[in-house]
Amino acid sequence: MSALLHASALTAFYGDAQALFGIDFALNEGEMVAIIGANGAGKSTFMKTLTGLVKTSPAQIVFKGEPIGGLPPGEIVKRGIALVPEGRRLFPSLSVEENLMMGAFAKRPGPWSLQRLYTLFPILNEKRQHPGTSLSGGQQQMVAIGRALMSNPTLLLCDELSLGLAPIVIREIYDALPAICAEGMTVVIVEQDVVMAQRVSQRIYCFQEGRVSLQGASGELTREQISQAYFGV
Ligand SMILES: Nc1ncnc2c1ncn2[C@@H]1O[C@H](COP(=O)(O)OP(=O)(O)OP(=O)(O)O)[C@@H](O)[C@H]1O
Ligand SMILES: [Mg+2]
Repeated sequence: MSALLHASALTAFYGDAQALFGIDFALNEGEMVAIIGANGAGKSTFMKTLTGLVKTSPAQIVFKGEPIGGLPPGEIVKRGIALVPEGRRLFPSLSVEENLMMGAFAKRPGPWSLQRLYTLFPILNEKRQHPGTSLSGGQQQMVAIGRALMSNPTLLLCDELSLGLAPIVIREIYDALPAICAEGMTVVIVEQDVVMAQRVSQRIYCFQEGRVSLQGASGELTREQISQAYFGV
């Protein structure tokens, strides 16, 4: 089976500072993969290269058989990759519904619509006219997920969904993922909580200092392997 997405020897730089040092990463259609790793390991940078926010050379990222490395972000959304960014990044002056519609600028055919999102997250229907930034952190995260889904992506990338949220809220957000994956969507989550990452994903990649330090089936990796790959000790 050919991979939906393949990153080969992927490198990334901020000016002269190198952040990724040759990442090899593959995704099969319909799978849920988690990326774990300590602060500064390069998880967000990797998400940004996949979505064109940090530039790479074309052949370093192949999606649906085509090189997409370094394409403009809007073009990558049109091809079917959507990002739920770290820190949610809502538009402060826009309502919940307007924020969701921002995700539809490159609307591809598919199952996701405002109606569908309001069924998944009923609270967003209640608050649809409110400013996005007046919501709780968990509700803002729902808007950020909804905005990404509005483009009807093939591949959904989620960068630290749990950041700053209470455990009960994290559970609520993660409970929505099976309904999202049920449509055959391929999902990558960046997650610092290793237990959560192992529980929800089929495969895990661990990043350390801009490199893949471990990868494998989530159920087969041991705590020792993970802590070695995570902290390098
Ligand atoms: N905009 C930027 N300019 C310069 N260096 C950056 C920038 N963003 C990230 N870096 C550097 O790139 C490296 C990787 O950072 P990145 O944000 O990708 O890590 P991360 O794994 O997402 O960490 P965290 O868990 O804190 O979100 C770090 O050394 C970081 O300091
Ligand atoms: Mg990050």
